[in-house]
Amino acid sequence: MNHETVSEPLRVGVVGVGWAGQQHIKAFHAIDGVEIVAVAGMETELLESIRAEYGIPHGFARWEELVELERLDAVSIAVPTFLHAPIAVAALERGLHVLSEKPLARNGEEGAAMVAAARGAGRVLDVVFNHRRRGDIKKLKSIIDGGGLGRPYYAKASWLRRSGIPTLGSWFTSPELAGGGPMADLGVHVLDYALHLLGEPKVISVSASAYAELGPRGRGGSEGFTAAASGLAFEVEDFASAFIRLEGGVTLVVEAGWASYRDPADVLDFRVYGTDGGAELRASQSPSLEIADSGLRIFTDDGDVNADYTAEPLEDGAHLAVVADFVAAIRAGQEEWGSHDGSIALTRAQIIDACYRSAREQREVRL
Ligand SMILES: NC(=O)c1ccc[n+]([C@@H]2O[C@H](COP(=O)([O-])OP(=O)(O)OC[C@H]3O[C@@H](n4cnc5c(N)ncnc54)[C@H](O)[C@@H]3O)[C@@H](O)[C@H]2O)c1
Repeated sequence: MNHETVSEPLRVGVVGVGWAGQQHIKAFHAIDGVEIVAVAGMETELLESIRAEYGIPHGFARWEELVELERLDAVSIAVPTFLHAPIAVAALERGLHVLSEKPLARNGEEGAAMVAAARGAGRVLDVVFNHRRRGDIKKLKSIIDGGGLGRPYYAKASWLRRSGIPTLGSWFTSPELAGGGPMADLGVHVLDYALHLLGEPKVISVSASAYAELGPRGRGGSEGFTAAASGLAFEVEDFASAFIRLEGGVTLVVEAGWASYRDPADVLDFRVYGTDGGAELRASQSPSLEIADSGLRIFTDDGDVNADYTAEPLEDGAHLAVVADFVAAIRAGQEEWGSHDGSIALTRAQIIDACYRSAREQREVRL
C-alpha cells in the first residue's frame, strides 16, 4: 500500500499460527471492516484448518510470500523473535502497517532498526503488550493516576513459574532465535506495565542477575505451549532478577522465571508502595494461557483510620484491545501514525539489553 489513505475493508496478513498468531487471527476476525486476506505458518495442516475456519483466501509457508502480496494494508507478526525485525522492516518498506508480538526484537539494535523503518515509512508500528490491557492493571493505573497512592517510590513486578519453560528444545531456549530467556519473554510484560503504571519514568541504571540451573539439566519444561521442540540446546537463562533505579529515586525490582523450585502456580505479582497508599496485585495464568484469577488490594488510610479495600478490576482487554487499537490507529490517518512508532517497546528492549549486560558483567549498568 503506497498511498496515504486507508482501504475499507482493511486488508491484513498474519504471520505465525502458534498461540500468539491464533490470538491475532481471533482478534482481527472480531473487528468489523477488517479482512484477514492471508496467513503464513509452517504447520501445513494447522494453516489449512485456520484458513477454512476463518475463510482466509491466501496461505503461505513463508513470511516473504505473504509480505509481497498485492493490496495488503497491514501485517501482524507472531513468529519467533529473530524474525520480528526482518519481517517488520520488509513490510514497513513496502508501506504496510505492522503489529509485532513482544518482545520487539532480540535486542535494542534490531528494535531501533524497526522503529527507524516505521518513522522512515511513516507507518504504524505497534507492539503487543496485552498484559497492560488487563482489567486489574487498568484499575490500578486509574488509582495511581488519581493520586490514590500518593507518590509511588518502590515497586516490584514478577512473573514466576515452577515448571514453565515454553517447550524445552524449542526456539524459545536459543539465544540466536529468542534473544533471551524469561527476562525477554515474561519480564518484558511486567516491565512494560510497571513502567506504564509508574508514568514512564526514565531508567537510570540496572543491576541484574540471571541463572540457568534447571533448563540445561532438562528440568522445568512444560508441554502447555505451542512452540515445537526441535532439539535445540537450552542456552538462555531460566530465572532472572533486576534492580532498576528510576528517575526521582524510585526503585523497580523485576523478577522473571520460567522455572525454579517454588509454588507450582504460574503467578504474576505486582506491588507498589507510595507516600499515601500501597497496592498488591496477584494474578495467575491457567495452562491455556488465560489470566485465571486476579486480586488487587489497596492499602491506605483516611486520617487515622485504616481504609484498605479490594479493588474491582475494569474490563479485560488482552489481544483484542491491542489489535483494536492498532486498527483504530491505522484508520485515524497519517496524523496519528507518527505516535505509533514502536518507541515505547524500544525502551523496554534497551532496558532488557542492559539487564543481560549487567548479569554477564556482574555490575550495575547505566542507561
Ligand atoms: N503477547 C503474548 O501474550 C504472547 C504469548 C505467547 C507468545 N508471544 C510471542 O509471539 C511470538 C510467537 O510465539 P508462539 O508461542 O506463538 O510461537 P510458536 O512457536 O508456537 O509459533 C510460531 C509460528 O511462527 C511460524 N513461523 C516460523 N518461521 C516462519 C517463517 N519463516 N515464515 C512463516 N512463519 C513462520 C511457525 O510456523 C509458527 O506458526 C513470539 O514473539 C512470542 O514472544 C506473545
